[in-house]
Amino acid sequence: MTTELFCIDLTQEAAAKTIADEFGFVLCNHAPPVDAGFYLCYQDDLLFLVQGDSPKTRVSVDFCGGKVAHRRHFGGGKGQDIAKAVGISSAYVPSVVDATAGLGRDSFVLATLGCDVIAVERQPVVAALLKDGLLRANIDDDVRPISERIHLVHDSSHRWLTEAPEKPVADVIYLDPMFDHDPKQKAAVKKDMQAFRSVVGQDADSDDLLGPALAAARCRVVVKRARKAEPLNGQAPSYSITGKSNRFDVYVLAKVAAAEK
Ligand SMILES: C[S@@+](CC[C@H](N)C(=O)[O-])C[C@H]1O[C@@H](n2cnc3c(N)ncnc32)[C@H](O)[C@@H]1O
Repeated sequence: MTTELFCIDLTQEAAAKTIADEFGFVLCNHAPPVDAGFYLCYQDDLLFLVQGDSPKTRVSVDFCGGKVAHRRHFGGGKGQDIAKAVGISSAYVPSVVDATAGLGRDSFVLATLGCDVIAVERQPVVAALLKDGLLRANIDDDVRPISERIHLVHDSSHRWLTEAPEKPVADVIYLDPMFDHDPKQKAAVKKDMQAFRSVVGQDADSDDLLGPALAAARCRVVVKRARKAEPLNGQAPSYSITGKSNRFDVYVLAKVAAAEK
């Protein structure tokens, strides 16, 4: 599928072209169509996804403001479930490969907690939005110390994990594939997240990620699931941490601690 990237401001064209060339989008300098299709826009130094018949609903990545800033200032620290799941302690902060990076919210939480994160995302629109958010974060003095810990790789993590020249690739591999939403929940999902889901679709091959992840992690693999979902690949975890709406399944390989030299 070709994705169009619309940029009608000539002063922004060079930046838009760099993005289009890197991710294989078609750069257009005329007004976008009014239909139900999705497209990207670059305007005011910001990349965002739009659905043509609902142009006010925009998806972009912002690590500097909104909910993310709030969580950075006030969010649960080492006590939150995701921190416990990856094994962050006062003695050791693990390195993480987030092999299903999406819009980078979990990567950012982990980086806020001190983890070095390699964020792997295969979907070009999502990877481009995440890259744009990271670039803007890297020019914000308050956020740069966190965003600099996140290294984006635009690739399939099936391939990246399998072909990595050196293993283990990190202490922890974190997986959060898309899952089927029940129709009742679907109605409650905000329009911007519906747009994200429409572009990404279902990660129907996610079961196949667990094996490569277990073969490439040093200490553990963590899988985020809906509270009542089956475990990934039907494989029971060592233990689970269950929250209000999510569950973290933890597959233990070794204690999360500094590697012996
Ligand atoms: C539910 S979203 C992840 C959300 C993310 N944890 C966050 O906090 O923003 C799942 C993402 O994983 C990506 N993905 C799924 N399988 C992948 C794979 N094998 N390699 C790379 N990315 C993958 C999808 O394209 C999608 O963007």
